[in-house]
Amino acid sequence: MSNPAFHGYIGQRPEVQYLRRLIEGAKLKGQPTPNILLAGGSGLGKTALAKALAKEYGTDCRIICSNADFDAINLSDFCLEWKACDFILVDEAHTLTRSIQELLYRIIDERIGPKASQPFDGPRRQIVGTQPVPEITLIFATDQPGKLLPALKKRINEIRTLLPYTITELIDITQKIAIEFEILLTAQSARMIADSARGTPRLARHLLNSLGKYFAAMPPEVYQKPHVRAFLRKRGIDRHGLGVVDRKYLEILRSSNQIHMSLQAISSMLRCDRGFIAHDIEPWLIENGYIFIEQKRRSITEKGRDSIAINLEGDRQ
Ligand SMILES: Nc1ncnc2c1ncn2[C@@H]1O[C@H](COP(=O)(O)OP(=O)(O)O)[C@@H](O)[C@H]1O
Ligand SMILES: [Mg+2]
Repeated sequence: MSNPAFHGYIGQRPEVQYLRRLIEGAKLKGQPTPNILLAGGSGLGKTALAKALAKEYGTDCRIICSNADFDAINLSDFCLEWKACDFILVDEAHTLTRSIQELLYRIIDERIGPKASQPFDGPRRQIVGTQPVPEITLIFATDQPGKLLPALKKRINEIRTLLPYTITELIDITQKIAIEFEILLTAQSARMIADSARGTPRLARHLLNSLGKYFAAMPPEVYQKPHVRAFLRKRGIDRHGLGVVDRKYLEILRSSNQIHMSLQAISSMLRCDRGFIAHDIEPWLIENGYIFIEQKRRSITEKGRDSIAINLEGDRQ
C-alpha cells in the first residue's frame, strides 16, 4: 500500500509527500499552511486530499462548495465561522464568480473579508462593510484551473496537479472502497474493477456501488472473477475497459472514409454534446492510445482498431 498512514488517502505520492512536509513545517512554526490549488480531473481525489491534508494539520476542513449563486453575503457568513489556521476548501472553484474571486484576493492579501448586515438589521441583507478574517489556509479544488482569474492564481502559493492513478494504487483504492460497501473482492476481481475505473477513484466507487446493487438479491460471500465479469458485461464494459460510447466512438472513426474527423462530426453522429465527448470520453481514449488528436482532428490508432475487432460476445476470458 502506497501510503497507509495518510488518513486513508492512497497514492499521489509525490504530491502527498511534498504537501505533508509543508504541513509539518507550518505546524512546527505555528503558522497556517500556504494556500493550495489542487487541479486535476473530476473524481481523481481532490476533495478527499483536501480533507486528508486538514486532518494532517489537525484541524477541520470547512467546505465552501462554490457555485454561481455563491455571493458576498454567503462569503461574509463563512468568514464569521473561521478560526486561525483552519483549512477552507473552496470546492469546484472554477464556478466562483469574478467578484467573489476578487473578494478572495483581499482575504489573502489583507485578511479582510466582506461584512453583511444581519437579518435583524433590516428585511434585505446587504454588504455593509468589511471585517477582519483570521489567517487561514485556502485550498482551491477544480478540474478547470484555467477558469480562475490569473490574479487569483498568482496569489496561491502552491499549484499542485493530481495525475491518474497507477493500476496498483487503484487496486488498493478499490479494496478500500469495497470495505465501505461491505463487498469482499478477490485480488483478481479487485483488479478487474480497477482496470475498468479509467484511472479514477470515483469511477471505482460507482462501479462498486452498482456491483453491490446488481447482486443484492443473492450477494456472494466473496465476489469472484465471474461475478465481476458478468456485471461489467451487462454494464457494457468490455475487457479493455471500453464502454458502449467508447466503442461507438471508435467504430465511427474506423468506418469513416476519412482518416480523421472533427469533434463536431463525431458528436453529432453519437448524438451527444461536444462537451461530454471532449470531457468524459476522449481523455481516456487518448491516454490509452486508442485515438489521437492533431490540429483538432481525431484519428484512430492501430490499438483502437484492434480493440473493437473483438465484439462483446466474443469477449469471454
Ligand atoms: N487517493 C485516494 N485514496 C482513497 N480514496 C480516494 C482517493 N481519491 C479519491 N478517493 C475516493 O474517491 C471518491 C472521489 O474522490 P473526490 O475526492 O470526490 O474526487 P474529486 O474531488 O477530485 O472530484 C471519494 O469517495 C474519495 O473518497
Ligand atoms: Mg470534488
